Amino acid sequence: MAKTIVITGASAGIGAALARHLGRQGHQLVLAARRGPELERVAAECGTATEVVVADVRLRADVERLRDAALRRFAHVDVWVNNAGRGITRAVLDLSDDDVDEMMAVNVKSALYGIQAIVPHFQERGEGHLINVSSFLGRVPFVAFRSAYNAAKHALNALTANLRMDLRNTHPGVHVSLVMPGVVRTEFAANALGGMVPSGGPPGQTAEEVAVVIAGLIEHPVAEVYTNPASAEMARRYYQDVGAFEVQSSTGFHRAGGPS
Ligand SMILES: NC(=O)c1ccc[n+]([C@@H]2O[C@H](COP(=O)([O-])OP(=O)(O)OC[C@H]3O[C@@H](n4cnc5c(N)ncnc54)[C@H](OP(=O)(O)O)[C@@H]3O)[C@@H](O)[C@H]2O)c1
Repeated sequence: MAKTIVITGASAGIGAALARHLGRQGHQLVLAARRGPELERVAAECGTATEVVVADVRLRADVERLRDAALRRFAHVDVWVNNAGRGITRAVLDLSDDDVDEMMAVNVKSALYGIQAIVPHFQERGEGHLINVSSFLGRVPFVAFRSAYNAAKHALNALTANLRMDLRNTHPGVHVSLVMPGVVRTEFAANALGGMVPSGGPPGQTAEEVAVVIAGLIEHPVAEVYTNPASAEMARRYYQDVGAFEVQSSTGFHRAGGPS
């Protein structure tokens, strides 16, 4: 069945790959990001009914305008993917107030605005699926130079879990899911506040591989998914002995590049 799916951060990377994948499956799409021409290019590649909305997800009014545009075009929304996000390359001791504010705005408040814009619609319909794209670093903060990004994604993980708990009994048809990718080959590292670090890390997954995982989640909603099959075991080892894990990870690729 074709669904109406809103994707933020759809002009590039994971969001664009997800849009193309879902478009091939015949879903109706609403794509948002700040760069209009890039969004239009992605929309043209989707091969399906697509609405483009230029929006800055750090602004609540823009996110509400995105919701309104989606409802105006398609009358309802089935799935909302809070995917837009941004990294940082800065040690904890060097973080400024502005750094922390930007990380919280683009990675946490953006998703909260999305939640508060669309979940009342889902509650009214008795169904819907809210998906937040976090990061493995939101579960295991082992790449120290991502600092405030790691903190923001941890906050996103907590809000996602608490929203799911709030809705479980009252609205069992409304699903809330968290996606935690590891390293993905996109412009993420280049776009990080503070710039790129020389990366000696593993190549990571493609955005298309991550898109396939998210599309599977839309078909079969679960609470959480790691896109990299190795991540669950890494998380288990981390929480078993945090100190030992940190020592091991500081000697490996993580010091040089690590996941995002
Ligand atoms: N790549 C990785 O290694 C990796 C790993 C784990 C998690 N993630 C997460 O995956 C998500 C997507 O990242 P990506 O790898 O696809 O990164 P990307 O290639 O840098 O793409 C980021 C997307 O978000 C949009 N965006 C950024 N700031 C925005 C804003 N203020 N308002 C609206 N849209 C905004 C960008 O579009 P505009 O510039 O046009 O606004 C772009 O479409 C993020 O949440 C990221 O944290 C990525």
